[in-house]
Amino acid sequence: MKKEDKIFLVGFMGCGKSTFGRKIASALNWNFVDLDEYIEEKEGKSISRIFEEFGEAYFRDLETSTLKETQKWNKTIVSCGGGTPCFNNNAELINNSGLSVYISLSPETLKDRLEGEKSKRPLIASLSNIELLSFIQNKLSEREAFYNKAKIKFDYSDDKAESFIDYLRSLVS
Ligand code: S3P
Repeated sequence: MKKEDKIFLVGFMGCGKSTFGRKIASALNWNFVDLDEYIEEKEGKSISRIFEEFGEAYFRDLETSTLKETQKWNKTIVSCGGGTPCFNNNAELINNSGLSVYISLSPETLKDRLEGEKSKRPLIASLSNIELLSFIQNKLSEREAFYNKAKIKFDYSDDKAESFIDYLRSLVS
């Protein structure tokens, strides 16, 4: 496998892309960028506000144009939004520009992690905790084909995280 200079983390909302991404970046001494935070800074608006004012289709185009900007970066871990690889051929864009990693968790674990974290996420903000699990199951089954386009799949667990970072290090340096 060729040495990559970017790693893109993909996976469902709440799978830990940003938290784990920051850990990988600090272990490799690389930069870390959260795509949603970068969009929020560029636009001067929260993701919820962008959805509210302009709708999801507008956000998806913004997400794709922002993803294109990452192509010129190097030594960077990019934490993608949960929908990033699922629209506008973004999965291909990601795979042509770096090493993609799908961080996979079960719907039940995602639900536990998302229950207190709904408000900043427009797709789930209005769901009750009871509705949340079936939303995750349905959305994940729609999206898994896109997530599985990633070059590497990691079934996340805390105790495997360190050795997975060592594995990534061996691929990029
Ligand atoms: C989305 C996930 C969010 C954010 C937006 C849409 C999605 O990112 O991009 O709310 O479609 O799954 P996180 O996965 O970081 O929550």
